[in-house]
Amino acid sequence: TSNQMWGGRFASGPAAIMEAINASISFDRKLYAQDIRGSIAHSEMLAQTGIISTADQEKIAHGLNTILKEIEAGTFEFSTRLEDIHMNIEARLADLIGPAAGRLHTARSRNDQVAVDLRLWVKDECFRVAEALKGLIKALLERAEEHAATVMPGFTHMQAAQPVTFGHHCMAYVEMFSRDLSRVRDAIERMDESPLGAAALAGTSFPIDRHGTAKALGFREPMRNSLDSVSDRDFALEFLGMAAICATHLSRLAEEIIIWSTPQFGFVRLSDSFSTGSSIMPQKKNPDAAELVRGKTGRVTGHLVGLLTVMKGMPLTYGKDMQEDKESVFDAAETLDLMLAAMTGMVSDMTVNAAAMKKAAGSGHATATDLADWLVRTLGLPFREAHHVTGRAVALAEEKKVGLEKLSLEDLQSINPGITADIFSVLAVQNSVKSRTSFGGTAPSEVRKQIRAWKKRIAKA
Ligand code: ARG
Repeated sequence: TSNQMWGGRFASGPAAIMEAINASISFDRKLYAQDIRGSIAHSEMLAQTGIISTADQEKIAHGLNTILKEIEAGTFEFSTRLEDIHMNIEARLADLIGPAAGRLHTARSRNDQVAVDLRLWVKDECFRVAEALKGLIKALLERAEEHAATVMPGFTHMQAAQPVTFGHHCMAYVEMFSRDLSRVRDAIERMDESPLGAAALAGTSFPIDRHGTAKALGFREPMRNSLDSVSDRDFALEFLGMAAICATHLSRLAEEIIIWSTPQFGFVRLSDSFSTGSSIMPQKKNPDAAELVRGKTGRVTGHLVGLLTVMKGMPLTYGKDMQEDKESVFDAAETLDLMLAAMTGMVSDMTVNAAAMKKAAGSGHATATDLADWLVRTLGLPFREAHHVTGRAVALAEEKKVGLEKLSLEDLQSINPGITADIFSVLAVQNSVKSRTSFGGTAPSEVRKQIRAWKKRIAKA
């Protein structure tokens, strides 16, 4: 038999394979609450504008609320034959209230219906992500405050470059995740427009009130172009773009945690609750949560690329290709939520080994730049020459197999006779860090200023 919703012109039903490729109910059932919300708002507007009767509207709203309860109680029977969440709900509505159900779809198409459902869902998810980001930022701020003066090596090319503080390092991630927070907020602003009432693509001849339904659904205003309304998926792409960038930040932090927790580094120890053991090697404590955060980033980024690729060939307006938007969005959302929660847990729970960090900060001649700066400041050498002199001091230290700060005054004076014993305080990592007081620099005083400012901002965010 042909489809009960659109089968009027069809003599027979679809092939089994057609049904299989066409159906989206296995995943778009996730939109049930948004679909019902959208339908209730639409029906109320239809009654207010006199397009349907109040009696019918009341039946529709009552039926939809019953369906909501059925779905939430797990008693609703989803059917693949009914393709998607929209038709599953509408068919059940007809069972429940009879012919009045058929009036709900007046001045509406599944094209604007699905667009409004998914927007509502993505908007809710954006608020969830914003909250999760705030939680992570707070966890990082706490660790930063605790370790504002904990010296560690700062790296470039993964080689010890200059000493920094662990607090400063944490605050770099606070900056990154705060940009993600601002990106998700921006995305919310732009997606805050309702496509409902665009109907199939051209609008409708019924005297509908799009401003009314937009407001009822919590949108700022209706979208201004009916063609764009049903064909736009920028809101999903922006969500995925934000998610991919945020996942990339999480992955970079995860990678650092993995490196820091190796016995070779020993900078941090993950708590038992965020690590796993090996089934064969009893000594192992593996950073699986961090590795999964790093790994799942590939999945999130894949979803962004996936949907961009779906959309790139879409002529206006709707094409069934666009049904492929949902699994990308849902999986990216679920994955990102989990990644944010796992990272927040790891950051809060990990033990920081300040002694190991400090020891590593002192190795690799990490204060060579401080020596060069001292030669400029105290002896008036041009920086390039100071760089060269310092390079010779490093070479001498290498030759003697000691750290730069362990060279004797005589050794240093053999390279430049102007060097005095003052230099040793400059070569101490703690002093090196303390001296970097430029705005945004690693000096604990500066780091603490940034922590205070961010704490205030996040409390208001
Ligand atoms: N399940 C469809 C989707 O997710 C709903 C819209 C169907 N529209 C249509 N014209 N066939 O995109």
